[in-house]
Amino acid sequence: MDGPRGASEGAIVTEVIDLGEFGDDFRRDPHPVYARLRARGPVHRIRPPSPDARYEAWLVVGHAEARAALADPRLAKDPSGVGATSLDEELIGKHLLVTDPPRHTRLRSLVTRAFTARRVEEMRPRIQRITDDLLDAMLPPGRGDLVESLAYPLPLTVICELLGVPEMDRTEFRQMSTEAVAPTSAESEYDAFVRLAGYLTDLIEDKRCAGPSGDLLSDLIRTTAEDGDRLSAEELRGMAFVLLIAGHETTVNLITTGVHALLTHPGQLASLRADMSLVDDAVEEALRWEGPVENATFRYAAEPLDIGGTPIARGDTVMVGLTAADRDSHRFPDPDRFDIRRDTRGHLAFGHGVHYCLGAPLARLEARTAIRTLLERAPGLALDGPPGDWLPGRLMRGVRSLPVRW
Ligand code: HEM
Repeated sequence: MDGPRGASEGAIVTEVIDLGEFGDDFRRDPHPVYARLRARGPVHRIRPPSPDARYEAWLVVGHAEARAALADPRLAKDPSGVGATSLDEELIGKHLLVTDPPRHTRLRSLVTRAFTARRVEEMRPRIQRITDDLLDAMLPPGRGDLVESLAYPLPLTVICELLGVPEMDRTEFRQMSTEAVAPTSAESEYDAFVRLAGYLTDLIEDKRCAGPSGDLLSDLIRTTAEDGDRLSAEELRGMAFVLLIAGHETTVNLITTGVHALLTHPGQLASLRADMSLVDDAVEEALRWEGPVENATFRYAAEPLDIGGTPIARGDTVMVGLTAADRDSHRFPDPDRFDIRRDTRGHLAFGHGVHYCLGAPLARLEARTAIRTLLERAPGLALDGPPGDWLPGRLMRGVRSLPVRW
């Protein structure tokens, strides 16, 4: 991409902030940088933090502007409309996060019909059971890695059962899945997408051969078989991709950062332990305070527009900073304070507008179940050392491991 862009015929030169220059400190805690940016204005020209990301984008850090941008139809999700490309499209296929209405509306209504609130509610006893089983295995040694023992396997098992994904090599799957959302380099990201595309193609083929089995993927496949032009093979692979990947990578981080936040704020933990009915509020505050999705997926200006007084040219890439917006003091007073009793309404952790997270009820159910059951069964739960590395890249906010003892 070119250097600093003149906002209007070069009259105003916009400073480009290279987030990569803040190094590991920014990964560990980007909030001081976001606070400085918010103090200067709601929209900034940035270069994302990943080492080989040389492109520039607009980053929206103000809450009101972020919310408006997420719902603005002039900010398109389909990169092909503005001549851009994405690995998802190139290697996986069209899916919900790279399409706009009317195609997005069609895909969304198709999956909503299969992925109903009832289906999520029916998972409740199973989610409790999986949590109990994982804790049965985790608790006897007295110490361990929360990510490995609970936060990762719970959402992965749940989404696999919901979709009807058979037993897999979890270590290999975890490696390619996490690399796709939090890449360590451009090459390994590409490689992860290639391997995921192959994996999903085989998975769908196997399920097609196995015939209907009542799970979500098999329902989606059947819909294709009955009415071929409604969900193409490529769209089916895209749908499996968003459900399987978005369906667990995010929730892992919600459980982990939620527990981490509580363990580093003893007063808040004590309030919750004294009244476990506050667990829903604690999960909402974890979503607001350190949401798992740092920046929403790319949007592209389909026409020139203005965001918070900043002119955006047609074709420009826009990143909506969800975790930055959720620490905006204009929306949430004293935003850096983790406070499970605060009013968290309006947080943007699940996005906003037509792309609002499809799995929000499932994610909430899993996180509430995991955190409540963990605290009940491990009354002496405490940190057992510093958390592991924070995930790289611009998309996810979470740590690779969290040592705990009880
Ligand atoms: C704590 C957990 C989760 C968080 C924080 C989260 C966050 C988000 C966000 C921010 C978006 C919008 C992205 C954008 O507009 O660019 C989104 C979309 C989506 N999420 Fe989630 N998500 C979570 C869990 C889940 C789960 C469990 C599932 C599936 C079972 C899921 C499936 C999806 C899908 C399919 C979309 C695309 C919706 C569309 O474009 O219409 N998510 N999620």
